[in-house]
Amino acid sequence: MKICHTIEDLRSTLRGKRSAFVPTMGNLHAGHIALVHRANQCRTEGKTDTTVASIFVNRLQFLPHEDFDKYPRTWQSDCDQLQAAGCDVLFAPDEKELYPEPQSYKVHPPAALADILEGQFRPGFFIGVCTVVMKLFQCVQPSAAIFGKKDYQQNMVLRHMVRQFALPVEMIAYETRRADDGLALSSRNGFLSPTERAEAVQLSLALKSLIALAKAGRSDYAAMEAAAMQALAVRGWKPDYLTVRRQADLQVPQAGDVPASLVALGAAKLGTTRLIDNLEITQ
Ligand code: PAF
Repeated sequence: MKICHTIEDLRSTLRGKRSAFVPTMGNLHAGHIALVHRANQCRTEGKTDTTVASIFVNRLQFLPHEDFDKYPRTWQSDCDQLQAAGCDVLFAPDEKELYPEPQSYKVHPPAALADILEGQFRPGFFIGVCTVVMKLFQCVQPSAAIFGKKDYQQNMVLRHMVRQFALPVEMIAYETRRADDGLALSSRNGFLSPTERAEAVQLSLALKSLIALAKAGRSDYAAMEAAAMQALAVRGWKPDYLTVRRQADLQVPQAGDVPASLVALGAAKLGTTRLIDNLEITQ
């Protein structure tokens, strides 16, 4: 695996190649590696020649109280996992390389999509994400990019960005990887104590209950959501939201929206760790 720390080296390494790209902030786990395998599949299918991953902890998407400095940096383990997964090129710029001057030009996604749910609780988060992904795309110039569905809203915001800026990138959303008990894999799971880890699956169970109610024909979403949040709160969680939304635009369902067009999304704090998850309703 070739490691490029500069944009210049990356560009000369990738010249003339079609790449499938997996952007990450490092601290890799099996969920990220599944994305790399999906990127390799593009290579196997002959759609691309190269699998590229990036590791860059993006200060722009952290709020002042979210501890950018404490985000786990696990460089050697990340490199080992990428190498073993068959990644061809790792782009790992430092902050000076990607942001040599304060990044005053930024991508502002529309409020209807980016100021709800995650954006409501993490104002400016999607500006940071869109700006860095736009910049990473300029550096890598991928033919395809693979993102995990665990970050459901992030996927939607980025897909719209790619469409509105006519970026020549195929956006591939990949299923969430889960632990045996159903907990969505996340770098943040590493912050959980053993007791919290055992409790953590309750978030996805709460989403499953919301889905079961919607499938059974309930559509009093506000009441369903309040009850689901209360049930988690009683167990010691601090829920930000547990909600049923339309898969198409993440807005509140309207009369006539069938359950199979909906998704349940949640974010809640367990101790000091904030977890997010989502489950699409299928037929
Ligand atoms: O999902 C992530 O890890 C980050 O938001 C991303 C897309 C790598 C941008 O920093």
